[in-house]
Amino acid sequence: MASPDLLKLMRNLRAVREYTAEPVAEQTIHAILEVGRWTGTSGNRQPTDVVVVRDPAIKQQMGEWGARPAATAAVVLLLATKADAGALDEGRYAERLLLAAKACGLGACLATLKHEGPEAIKPLLGIPEDRRARAVVAIGHTDVAARKALPKDPRGGRKPMAEFAHWDRY
Ligand SMILES: Cc1cc2nc3c(=O)[nH]c(=O)nc-3n(C[C@H](O)[C@H](O)[C@H](O)COP(=O)(O)O)c2cc1C
Repeated sequence: MASPDLLKLMRNLRAVREYTAEPVAEQTIHAILEVGRWTGTSGNRQPTDVVVVRDPAIKQQMGEWGARPAATAAVVLLLATKADAGALDEGRYAERLLLAAKACGLGACLATLKHEGPEAIKPLLGIPEDRRARAVVAIGHTDVAARKALPKDPRGGRKPMAEFAHWDRY
C-alpha cells in the first residue's frame, strides 16, 4: 500500500541541530531504540549496540570532540559497533534512528566524534576496546524559532535528479 505520508517524512528528513531544553521521554527513547534494534544487517550479525547518553557532562565532551549537536541535545545515542562490521551496517543503523526520531516528532542529527574522541569515549562509557565508538545520533525537541532564524544554507540543497539517477546505464 502506498504511503505518501511516509515518503514525505523520509524525503524531508533534515539534520536538526537546534534543540530546546525539554527532555525526551524515556518511552520515546525506547520507541526509537526498538526501530533501531530491528535494522537489517549484513548476515544478520547485528554488529551495533547503542549507548543512551543523557549525562550533560558527557554530551558536552562529545561536542568538544567535534560532534557539536551532541552538546545541546536532550539525548545522544552512541553507536558502539564491532570493528569487523560490514561497511554499510553502521550507516543503516544511524539512518533508522534518525527516521524514528523524526517519526516521534523530534529533531535529530548524525555526527561523528573526531580527534581523540572515538578512543577517549570508550573508558568513559565502559565500551569494550574492540568496538568502534564514532557515530552519534543527537536527538531533542526541535527549537523551531532557532531553526527559522537560521541563514538559508546555499549548500543545503541537492544535485539535480538528472545528475543523481542514471537509468539503465551511467
Ligand atoms: C556520515 C555523516 C556524518 C555527519 N557528521 C556530522 C557532524 O559531525 N556534525 C554535524 O553537525 N552534522 C553532521 N552530519 C549531517 C550533515 O552535515 C547533513 O546531513 C548534510 O549537511 C545535509 O543536510 P540535511 O541532512 O539537513 O539535508 C553528518 C552526516 C552524515 C551522513
